[in-house]
Amino acid sequence: MVKVMIRSQLYVPSNNKKMVGKSQSLDTDMIIFDLEDAVPETEKNGAREFILEFIQTNKINKKIAIRINDMDTGYFYHDIIAINSAEKKPDYLVVPKSELGLSHIYRHLGIPLIALIETAEGMNKLDDVISQEGVEMVSWAAGDLSFSAGGNIEGYSSNLYLKTKIIISARAHGIKAMDKVYFDLNNLDGFADECKESRSLGYEGKQVIHPSQVAIANQIFSPSREEIEWAKKIIKEYRASSSSGRGAINVDGQLVDSVHIRMAESILKNSGEKP
Ligand code: COA
Ligand code: MG
Repeated sequence: MVKVMIRSQLYVPSNNKKMVGKSQSLDTDMIIFDLEDAVPETEKNGAREFILEFIQTNKINKKIAIRINDMDTGYFYHDIIAINSAEKKPDYLVVPKSELGLSHIYRHLGIPLIALIETAEGMNKLDDVISQEGVEMVSWAAGDLSFSAGGNIEGYSSNLYLKTKIIISARAHGIKAMDKVYFDLNNLDGFADECKESRSLGYEGKQVIHPSQVAIANQIFSPSREEIEWAKKIIKEYRASSSSGRGAINVDGQLVDSVHIRMAESILKNSGEKP
């Protein structure tokens, strides 16, 4: 599997040394060390110091991000100053409760941003938020969003309208979208179903919160053997028939034309296989 794909992004509370240590052995494509809501107020400063030191002193063999505190808190400024002073920087910053004003962070630190949409304001101005300089990826979160909208998690966690809106906006702006976390740790079937739906809409991967979710996300967001075989087959048959002037053909009872070929080429590119 080509590692340029980011199929899973695992949140790890930065004050939990055991989980930070364990995250190193997990097969997630990206680790997000959290400084925000998974870290209690009393541990904010210690967690920041610990995780920056951890990044300096350990050779981490996967992409790493830090989720900083949101811009309305004093911790935000401490996070920015500390990350700016650190020699080894994370690959990405996750900005919670992303709204306008993100470009300042990027221009100051030069680190690509993952905008986390989780306020009514951020969702309302989605296109403006994700088109800011430095934003390379977008994700969203049902807990804070439902709180901001005055609803509840059930109303937002499987909200197909918002889920589709985010991926369409992301693609329109040429950035990647990662689907939100799934809170029900004991329902791995439900988690898998949500991953499948996200992938079918165009999401690149899923933000996850527990090791048990990592392998499922990695598998579902990777091209399957059947998809790879299908892609190879239709490309071969399409090439053979296009020389006879046909742009639409019948493969196993299904119409195939050039959009299917573009999809097939994308599957093969993501799987690292040749047509
Ligand atoms: N990263 C790394 N390791 C983790 C982990 C994580 N996010 N979540 C659990 N683990 C480890 C545990 O340390 C434990 O390790 P061990 O078997 O070596 O002892 C193992 O996985 C099993 O953990 P478990 O006992 O099932 O977890 P829990 O019930 O104690 O905790 C959560 C459940 C949800 C509180 C925990 O998974 C967590 O904190 N997740 C991240 C939350 C977060 O960062 N949220 C912010 C974004 S929404
Ligand atoms: Mg949140």
